[in-house]
Amino acid sequence: MKGYTLVRTFHLLLFLLLLYACGKGGVPAVPEEKTAETTVMVEPGPLEGLKLYLGYCFVCHGQKGDGNGPYAEKLSAKPADFTDSTYFRTKTDSELYDFISKGGIAHGKSMHMKPFGFQMTRDEIESSIAYIRVLNRHERISRAESSDFNGSEIYKNSCVMCHGEKGAGDGRVSKMLGLKVRPITGELLSQYSGAKLYNIIQDGIASDTTGSGKYMPAWGASLSEQEIINVISYISTFGE
Ligand code: HEC
Ligand code: HEC
Repeated sequence: MKGYTLVRTFHLLLFLLLLYACGKGGVPAVPEEKTAETTVMVEPGPLEGLKLYLGYCFVCHGQKGDGNGPYAEKLSAKPADFTDSTYFRTKTDSELYDFISKGGIAHGKSMHMKPFGFQMTRDEIESSIAYIRVLNRHERISRAESSDFNGSEIYKNSCVMCHGEKGAGDGRVSKMLGLKVRPITGELLSQYSGAKLYNIIQDGIASDTTGSGKYMPAWGASLSEQEIINVISYISTFGE
């Protein structure tokens, strides 16, 4: 929660600076509006790591980190079990970083563990490692009670890798694994009540579902109520 307060303080500071600059009649050097392609600036850390983990790693390593994700049964090697604290105690953070960014083949291990250095930034990989450490220690982390992240930021950080920029279902993880993800359209969403949508995002789709649904993780542990509401308003703009 500290992180969010920090971000808020930072925004306030920026705002004050801006006021000051305007007061002086100068043109404030405001950074340009972010484009859809830019990554979201967030504080690296385990909570951030959890969100990224659900987007990129959960499909194989599982919601609990035990290596039993919905895609694991399709693989010739078992994804690492992050709850195996004995094994992970022998690994340093920099070894994990190297493995995650360069992937299995570069380390004489399974090709199913792809090099994530192409799709994730350094901060993102470091946040994922911080979350893997939480799993190693069998701990849980508490989600933010509120946040300043708007729907578009949450979507870009946690949903785009499967649902794609505009909800067409063509995100990187979907492509990498050949997952079929039905496009999110206004028409599709209109079939759900607000409460039903909230529940799908909070609880994910049950792992015994036939079809793609089981690849939709549960976000209740990582997104606040407000963030879930924000991301619902954002996806509701698709296909307008
Ligand atoms: C397509 C499936 C798949 C995805 C997605 C995936 N992994 Fe893996 N991962 C594996 C497999 C399989 C192994 C086991 C490799 C082996 O032992 O040969 C593994 C092993 C690992 C290891 C163990 C390294 C070691 O020292 O043994 C780490 C750490 C890891 N993955 C991190 C991640 C992170 C972080 C993500 C998400 C950013 C991720 N993985 C996404 C399949 C996957
Ligand atoms: C690891 C991949 C993955 C991630 C990450 C992911 N989803 Fe999903 N999601 C899916 C899949 C797969 C489905 C089921 C689609 C289908 O049945 O074709 C789904 C279904 C949904 C649905 C129900 C729509 C429908 O098709 O019935 C909503 C709403 C949704 N996701 C929202 C989100 C939001 C919001 C996020 C980010 C917080 C998110 N998803 C992140 C894979 C993902």
